[in-house]
Amino acid sequence: MYNSKISGLGYYVPDNIVTNNDLSKIMDTTDEWIQERTGIKERRWIDPKTDDTTSTMAVKASKIAIERSGLKKNDIDFIIFATLSPDMYFPGGGVRVQDMLEMPTIGALDVRNQCSGFVYALSVADQFIKTGMYKNILVIGSENHSGGLDKSTRGRGVTVIFGDGAGAAVLSRCEQKGKGILSSHLYSEGKHARELMMDGPHTGRWIPEILKENDPNDESYYPYMNGPFVFKHAVTRFSEAIVDGLEANNLKSENIDVLIPHQANLRIAQFIQRKFKLSDDKVYNNIMNYGNTTAASIIIALTEAWEKGKIKENDLVVLAAFGAGFTWGSVIIRW
Ligand code: ACO
Repeated sequence: MYNSKISGLGYYVPDNIVTNNDLSKIMDTTDEWIQERTGIKERRWIDPKTDDTTSTMAVKASKIAIERSGLKKNDIDFIIFATLSPDMYFPGGGVRVQDMLEMPTIGALDVRNQCSGFVYALSVADQFIKTGMYKNILVIGSENHSGGLDKSTRGRGVTVIFGDGAGAAVLSRCEQKGKGILSSHLYSEGKHARELMMDGPHTGRWIPEILKENDPNDESYYPYMNGPFVFKHAVTRFSEAIVDGLEANNLKSENIDVLIPHQANLRIAQFIQRKFKLSDDKVYNNIMNYGNTTAASIIIALTEAWEKGKIKENDLVVLAAFGAGFTWGSVIIRW
């Protein structure tokens, strides 16, 4: 069995900054409400006049990650793409990246696990590398939320939270024992699927039917979130996933050098930080600047933290996520 380690990281966010005050001009909300409840100050939303899409942002992030890995794009032998907002209903984003990066006909897998998408994707990549099947896997998280949000007051409980962006990692075979991904833990509890979802269109009620009904109160094609319910489960499940990861490696919370929590809400991240008694320099948050970018959030934060020199050789890095499904999980990395 081999180990896998991250050999390259990259991220890309659209240039267009949308502040809380900008949102207060299009819906009934305030900078104060958003900052107090979520910690978010601004987010990036794709300017439709640009060529940014979920896949093109993924390509931009991937190019940086591949270059930093020291590999050539033809060294990559598999793509895993996590998103809830693909450019098309099908096919998924992986094949778009394979095409746009002009890669050989390598396999491309899409992961549909929302905010846990990157943790799931990284875990899948790790398994492929461990068995020796692949040597270098491009793992991507990318989201274009702004294209599908209800930007009226009706959608404010969800819309103010989400931002656009992409991140990518190259996961490579590593022959050093005790380095790279030490373990991953993945979970789901589908009975709560309807607490955080986008219901329509679905195959039981397709677009012509929605158009025919022409119901101005139809919100089914916008994301729905039972915020307080999600919050309550998130704090519990985040913690459980971290504890499971640490215990599996005979580690304690004191051993954590850097925690990168999925950027769901700054209050959730702060709760986790307090629970594990971690100092500020051990938890990396950037939700203030980007909002919640779902499958992209962990990989954007990981890349930023690494770029700022906050992750050093041999550090114990913990990634933890919770999101729609519900799904959640953790990845423990010895850097
Ligand atoms: N501006 C002003 N007021 C607002 C806004 C807004 N943007 N949004 C909602 N409100 C109002 C509500 O209408 C409500 O008003 P009412 O009391 O008159 O009915 C009031 O504020 C309180 O609403 P709550 O939903 O109870 O507010 P809460 O304090 O729970 O904060 C939030 C909402 C920020 C969404 C929080 O519940 C949360 O962060 N939940 C978890 C989010 C999360 O972790 N998601 C998982 C990842 S996402 C994914 O996987 C896709």
